[in-house]
Amino acid sequence: MYRHLRWLTIVVPVVGAAIFEILRFTVVPVLFPGLSSDGWGGSAILLLFVLAGGAIFSQGVFKIIDNQHHEIIRERQKLQSAFTYTSDGIIMIDRNLKILSINPAAEKITGWKADETIGKLTCSVINKCKFETEATKKYCSEACLNPECGHSQCWGRLVFEKQCSIPYVEMCISDREGCSKPVAVSYSYIPGDGYNEPQVEIILRDITERKKLEKAMHDMAVLEERYRLAREMHDGLAQTLCFLNLKCKTIENKLSKTGELLSEISEVKSVIQEALEEVRFNIFDLKANPQLQQSFSLWLKDYGCKFADNFRIPVEVIINVKDEWELPTAVKIHVTRIVQEALTNVRKHAQATKVRIELTEKSGEMVLVISDNGIGFVKEKVEKIGKKHFGLSIMEERAGLIGGSLTILPNEPAGTTICLTIPRTGKRTENVS
Ligand SMILES: Nc1ncnc2c1ncn2[C@@H]1O[C@H](COP(=O)(O)OP(=O)(O)OP(=O)(O)O)[C@@H](O)[C@H]1O
Ligand SMILES: [Mg+2]
Repeated sequence: MYRHLRWLTIVVPVVGAAIFEILRFTVVPVLFPGLSSDGWGGSAILLLFVLAGGAIFSQGVFKIIDNQHHEIIRERQKLQSAFTYTSDGIIMIDRNLKILSINPAAEKITGWKADETIGKLTCSVINKCKFETEATKKYCSEACLNPECGHSQCWGRLVFEKQCSIPYVEMCISDREGCSKPVAVSYSYIPGDGYNEPQVEIILRDITERKKLEKAMHDMAVLEERYRLAREMHDGLAQTLCFLNLKCKTIENKLSKTGELLSEISEVKSVIQEALEEVRFNIFDLKANPQLQQSFSLWLKDYGCKFADNFRIPVEVIINVKDEWELPTAVKIHVTRIVQEALTNVRKHAQATKVRIELTEKSGEMVLVISDNGIGFVKEKVEKIGKKHFGLSIMEERAGLIGGSLTILPNEPAGTTICLTIPRTGKRTENVS
């Protein structure tokens, strides 16, 4: 458009002068016979024409320029609004891999403010990926998002050199506070256009919510699978063992008349009985998972009741927590597994007639005490025996993972007490099994 205007500035005066010359020698002498085409009269008319032509022309030109100017401002505002209000983080970097601009969404994702990052090559804005994925492996084995890292395979450099794009890669970055954040990242090469240097646009999308949803769906799938296994064990293995038990009883009855093989049969019967108990407990355990939305204390009461019903060992559950603490799902799963193992040990080893579970709050921590009135045991002695026992050590490991602690003490006057502390701000853990 402006190129045309440049031509018009030459064409219009030339055409104007030509028209004037024609008029001066044809129309003017007819209309104004008194006026000579030479001298002041001619000059005045020339001036008049030039002024009128100039005014009309400049009006037109200024109108076009004004319209163009407003158009450009509107376009710029549109782009600026998109840059400011988009929910995707946008970071522009130049050929030297310095940050040119960073939008509010990127500030929110990375935790860094624009004035802390623009022009600076800061290491903390977008940091190294913590996990290697297929996609990160494809583009760069060290998958570095940080333009300042100096790493020869830095993605920003790679995109500039190859003038390519890196589409959608999922990874975890460390934000300003050092917290790991799952993001989807893409790099796009934007070529220079004569006025602007080439740039690279980095788009960051916070995928924390999506990851949470995926995790919840995964947990749900695990629960469903456990239910399926429990059903299958109930309908298959448990029925078979019941059948074998019955058959053994019939054989025992028949053999009792002759007195043959009685001890062998009663041995087989007790092994089947044990296996049946084990299967029944596994079915019970597979089904006894906390629902994701269910509060921990509710689950505890429910589990205590079911355990008592199934294994005929009375369980008293006391909840002394004023405002219900909502444990994060990962912590909840570790704590429920600890409770399950503690009660399994009671059932298998304690010969107890009573179990008491108490949940209290003490100086900012949740304290869970499980005690039985059984035969008790000395932990150190168990460790020395050398036989493989995993339950207690896994319980301790789980307590450590949630940032708590587990102590095993003798119960007074008899039995065992297990004390688990669960901190309010337990260590974050993602590895739940
Ligand atoms: N409540 C309890 N009362 C009495 N003895 C217990 C109790 N809890 C644990 N024990 C003893 O401690 C030992 C170790 O327990 P641990 O749970 O580590 O292993 P386990 O139950 O023998 O086997 P698993 O690896 O299947 O759990 C048990 O074999 C048992 O002798
Ligand atoms: Mg055990």
